[in-house]
Amino acid sequence: MNILAIGDVVGQEGCEFLRKTLPSFKKLKGIGLTIANGENSAAGNGITPFSAEHLFASGVDLITTGNHVYKRREVYDFLDSRTDIVRPANYNKNNPGRGFTVIDKGSVQIGIINLSGVSYMEGADNPFAAVDSILQELENCRIILVDFHAEATAEKKALGYYLDGRVSAVFGTHTHVQTSDAKVLEGGTGYITDLGMTGPEKSVLGVKHEIAINRFKTGMPSRFETAQTPCFMCGCIFEIDEKTGRTLSVESVCVE
Ligand SMILES: [Fe+2]
Ligand SMILES: [Fe+2]
Repeated sequence: MNILAIGDVVGQEGCEFLRKTLPSFKKLKGIGLTIANGENSAAGNGITPFSAEHLFASGVDLITTGNHVYKRREVYDFLDSRTDIVRPANYNKNNPGRGFTVIDKGSVQIGIINLSGVSYMEGADNPFAAVDSILQELENCRIILVDFHAEATAEKKALGYYLDGRVSAVFGTHTHVQTSDAKVLEGGTGYITDLGMTGPEKSVLGVKHEIAINRFKTGMPSRFETAQTPCFMCGCIFEIDEKTGRTLSVESVCVE
């Protein structure tokens, strides 16, 4: 089965590009399951039921999130009521939403876990300990995928090796810049440090570059606006053996 994981979809611009690009791309690559990180998909910031529904209508089967998940209050009930959207599992367990979920594909059960890093990030418990206990609950899933939403490359690489042979794939999100290290690790786990983003290419992580430059130059606060430049869709395709749950090949993609 080919599973496509898409990096942070940014703003209305990213959403609209995804709607245009994803359906034909899925056909072209024979994609059986599509996951997208939607933590920045709402116009403005965060994620709303409206932006989440836009991702689903574009062909996304499951949405992962990250540190921006709770920016918009209107999404809290949505996070509680839906099983096809997850937030970091190592956040406070009483927070809205669930940290992992299972998709029933008939012949195979697919577990998806969302985790947050702790280096340079706030509000999360140790992701290594969290994932150990979740894996015990996902014993019936032959395929398990992990979105590790984290800032530090070292933390992401370490979790990749920690989970090698124990899950099907580990992909990083959050930095919005795709890394060139997509590969199958020795134990059969597909890995990439960061999927990159889906949104305006000439931008600073999605934000108008002029605004970002001014902010860094002056240190003054400024309202971020999504750039209005041509978009791309970045992510990774994991070819996974349904019988063993191992990843056979990994292909990172950036579609313009
Ligand atoms: Fe993001
Ligand atoms: Fe993030």
